Amino acid sequence: MPVPKAELHLHIEGTLEPELAFALAARNGVTLPYADTDELRGAYRFSDLQSFLDLYYGLMAVLRTAEDFTALADAYLERAAAQGVRHAEIFFDPQAHTARGVPIGVVIEGLSASLERSEERYGISTRLIMCFLRDESAESALATLDAAKPYLDRITGVGLDSAEVGHPPAKFREVYEAAGALGLRKVAHAGEEGPAAYIREALDVLGVERVDHGLRCMEDADLVDRLVRERVPLTLCPLSNVRLRTIDTLADHPLRAMMTAGLLVTVNSDDPAYFGGYVGDNFDAVRETLGLEPEHLRELARNSFLASFLEDDEERRARYLAEVEAYVFGGGPA
Ligand code: ADE
Ligand code: ZN
Repeated sequence: MPVPKAELHLHIEGTLEPELAFALAARNGVTLPYADTDELRGAYRFSDLQSFLDLYYGLMAVLRTAEDFTALADAYLERAAAQGVRHAEIFFDPQAHTARGVPIGVVIEGLSASLERSEERYGISTRLIMCFLRDESAESALATLDAAKPYLDRITGVGLDSAEVGHPPAKFREVYEAAGALGLRKVAHAGEEGPAAYIREALDVLGVERVDHGLRCMEDADLVDRLVRERVPLTLCPLSNVRLRTIDTLADHPLRAMMTAGLLVTVNSDDPAYFGGYVGDNFDAVRETLGLEPEHLRELARNSFLASFLEDDEERRARYLAEVEAYVFGGGPA
């Protein structure tokens, strides 16, 4: 069994595998602009974040009913369990569904039906994080938070995703303030394609507790010092960075340098159906390509639980951390 780990950067819509997409398309009478799963997979060649997002949002057309969202989450959890995931904090993009006429309640009820039985079925505890699309307006984000109010018992936090450049964090100051007042935790994508300044802004203006990606902090030594000092976790997604051409090759990934600098980094899959692997595959890829030793992998697994929003269940966090310390690395998948 792979090392126990938490996954903290995972878009549930990004787990939609071609086979499930075609099955849901048939069930819902949706025609996809691809002949079959091979042709769809063949379209997974991205030049940047936007080229991926165009396909990602397009394929969501097959997600229509609560049962579709339940099936999507079940499929993810089953794969995640096989890769050692014990806790998952899962993003979803309500605006990508409400814009197509799928009510937010359908999305949340559908996902919840899967997450509620996740522990019993897959041995995975879960949290849900609702993301705002940063290329939509601040008003739309506020309306989304308002629409989510009947479901706040299912939502742990808010996040910010989609096209980064030109949509700085400060655009969402008001909705993050409102989310904080409702007791929601705060994260945001920053420094994926956007500059290190967006990471500072996410911390200073939005008050985020964790930064998604944060890769480009490495261009700003003072910012690195601050992230180390304040123990701000970064949720890295190595295979995503290669597929979206944020870095040229995996060998160029700064993960090792970030660990050496003392940053609290975690490894995650982002959109595993599109980027060539789930979280364990990301662990294996960085182990192989960056020459990580077992103690590096243990640190990454430990960090994943330290960075998770388990403050409401410290007993569970302690149990997971003990599993990490007791784990013996062999030759198998990490
Ligand atoms: N939505 C899904 N995946 C994303 C990513 N890697 N960056 C920004 N928004 C996303
Ligand atoms: Zn992401």
